[in-house]
Amino acid sequence: MTHLVTPDARWHDSWAGTIREFGDEFPHGSGIGEGEVLEGRAACELFVAERLRFADPAARLPDGMVPCDYFWIADGDEVIGFVALRHRLNDWLFEMGGHIGYSVRPSRRRQGHAGRALALALGRARELGLDRVLLTCDEDNRASRLTIEGGGGVYEDTRNGKQRFWIDLTRAATPEGSVSRPRDGAGAAPA
Ligand SMILES: CC(C)(COP(=O)(O)OP(=O)(O)OC[C@H]1O[C@@H](n2cnc3c(N)ncnc32)[C@H](O)[C@@H]1OP(=O)(O)O)[C@@H](O)C(=O)NCCC(=O)NCCS
Repeated sequence: MTHLVTPDARWHDSWAGTIREFGDEFPHGSGIGEGEVLEGRAACELFVAERLRFADPAARLPDGMVPCDYFWIADGDEVIGFVALRHRLNDWLFEMGGHIGYSVRPSRRRQGHAGRALALALGRARELGLDRVLLTCDEDNRASRLTIEGGGGVYEDTRNGKQRFWIDLTRAATPEGSVSRPRDGAGAAPA
């Protein structure tokens, strides 16, 4: 069963395995910077603490960054992917990045995890008070486009090679499943 869990270094091993499996592919929604290398549990702990700060709307964030909930997608007690839910858009996110980014480790794709994770993230977005969210994908990213459309995304336009879709949260169904929110603090184990 797909869950979204608050990042926690206790799941370091499957988190690290997931990152490794991405290889050269960028793990969208993970909060890991392009080319950033995170080796070992201590680095994971520091990374998690830093990313959880982003969930606090009052936190001082680096220039150009907006508050964001980072989640790890879990199946049982195994981390299999990532979701980032930005609380608001800046100019770049409005044009290119959108509110929500996600990825699933290659060996766990086509099992419905992204669709379920997106539905859970939409529930969290509604809790944050958003009434619509923007999602984007590259024009040739069929898997992501189908995931977005499955979540209720309505195509608006394409800008700089990015297809842009809006999901109306006042209409979307309430998802089943669980989300352990960053604000809840660490400790909620994936069920
Ligand atoms: C996009 C991604 C997250 C989809 O993850 P997933 O867990 O395989 O997706 P799901 O199994 O939930 O499938 C969602 C939909 O996409 C379709 N789909 C998934 N992979 C597909 C593929 N390779 N080709 C065609 N359709 C595909 C599924 O059939 C499903 O469509 P349906 O609801 O009409 O049946 C995954 O491919 C991925 O991590 N890609 C790299 C990162 C990325 O592109 N992230 C998005 C950045 S905007």
